[in-house]
Amino acid sequence: MTFDSKLQRKIMGCFATGVTLVTTRSGDDIWGMTANAVMSLSLDPPLILIAVDRRNAIQKYLRDGQCFAVNMLRVEHEAISNAFATPGPKDFSQISLTVGETGAPILADAMAYIDCRLEHTLSGGDHDIFIGRAVGGSVNEGSPLIFFKGKYCGLFDETGVDRLPADS
Ligand SMILES: Cc1cc2nc3c(=O)[nH]c(=O)nc-3n(C[C@H](O)[C@H](O)[C@H](O)COP(=O)(O)O)c2cc1C
Repeated sequence: MTFDSKLQRKIMGCFATGVTLVTTRSGDDIWGMTANAVMSLSLDPPLILIAVDRRNAIQKYLRDGQCFAVNMLRVEHEAISNAFATPGPKDFSQISLTVGETGAPILADAMAYIDCRLEHTLSGGDHDIFIGRAVGGSVNEGSPLIFFKGKYCGLFDETGVDRLPADS
């Protein structure tokens, strides 16, 4: 029996996530894709997992470049998220970038980033799973962009007060 894909989307849309910009480099070519199917898979060894639709153009660049960086977006980055969720060539010209250890582009004002060398690629239905070993990264200040029920939001309560947890 097949499960209704619209219902699956609706159910999983209740799982609020952050939003990331996954970037990669193959030679002189850089590419990026908005992604929330991202997780920390293992601490020892340090492995990060991303799930990528088999139709997405970034697949070729990930396989050729053998690296990816996951840039955690801030609440101010909604326009970047929309731009990199649109099929076709990606315009990095208005974005301030640095370069990670793997050569992957790093969003200079990301909330945090983690830079990975590709270790494994697995099949996962209409997506492929890319597992990378973390080789670099850092954490900055800021409030994250959240994706919930198919819409963007931030970490605010009903009075508009920022509900960021205190830094530990
Ligand atoms: C909030 C959000 C999260 C997304 N997460 C993923 C994801 O985890 N994996 C994926 O393959 N596509 C995801 N997408 C869709 C891609 O960003 C979109 O298909 C993009 O156009 C792919 O670009 P490309 O074809 O240039 O690689 C997401 C889109 C949005 C708006």
